[in-house]
Amino acid sequence: MHVILIGPQGSGKGTQSERIRSQLNLTSIATGELFRSAIKDGTELGKQIQLIYDRGELIPDHLTVALVEERIANLAREQERGSPLVGALYDGFPRTYGQADALDRLLADRGEAVTSVIAIDVPRETLMRRLAGRRVCAVCGRVYNVDFDPPTIDAVCDTCRGPVLQRADDTQEAVGKRLDLYELETAPLVERYAEEGILTRVDGDRVIDSVTDAIVAAIQERIPVVATRGR
Ligand code: AP5
Repeated sequence: MHVILIGPQGSGKGTQSERIRSQLNLTSIATGELFRSAIKDGTELGKQIQLIYDRGELIPDHLTVALVEERIANLAREQERGSPLVGALYDGFPRTYGQADALDRLLADRGEAVTSVIAIDVPRETLMRRLAGRRVCAVCGRVYNVDFDPPTIDAVCDTCRGPVLQRADDTQEAVGKRLDLYELETAPLVERYAEEGILTRVDGDRVIDSVTDAIVAAIQERIPVVATRGR
């Protein structure tokens, strides 16, 4: 099963992905998270991408696709070793036509295909408010919001007790740029997946639990479609 969460910055992809992957036994492939960890570890990739990332621009497709390819191969290896994981949940990928084509090719090589795509809809003014209040655990990556979903103890992660901080790309300037880029590069993918018949739109402007329930129901509804897609 390969499920894509698509939506503008702040729509709740990361928040929902954390909840859904454990409920449905999926591994998370979150490209933003992979880039943040490469930057933090000071890897060669991290050094190459830091400036692009901090400006809120998209990392070049070839670097992004290579990371995802590696994660898909890891998943296949884990499954061969008997892991109970049933597939992948993509958060923040694909974001361009080139990435969507690459994902289709990677999966087709394995005789698989994208199972379902969930588009999370949230109005722009809500997105700006959410991103201004977003805080993330520097150790385990759990996402919080000072207004809507704060940690129990200020700036301390409920899960691992790590420090809860603001992201480097959550400045007003970078947020505006990322939202514009979403409209330009990523929103057209929503139409593409609608035409393929695998898209469900979910209202993301509700309490977090209701959004989770709607997404899980939408994914489960589409599972039988897997067998027929592409035939
Ligand atoms: P990435 O980490 O993917 O960031 P993003 O797409 O900019 O998405 P966000 O993480 O900002 O938003 P989200 O939808 O996950 O919202 P969240 O759950 O945190 O990418 C970062 C950068 O990496 C990119 O700018 C780019 O440079 C690079 N990159 C990544 N993928 C790439 C790719 N494929 N190609 C090229 N470059 C790539 O929620 C936001 C806030 O709202 C939180 O505080 C949360 O608590 C709160 N919240 C969530 N849901 C609700 C709700 N229902 N009600 C109230 N508050 C809520």
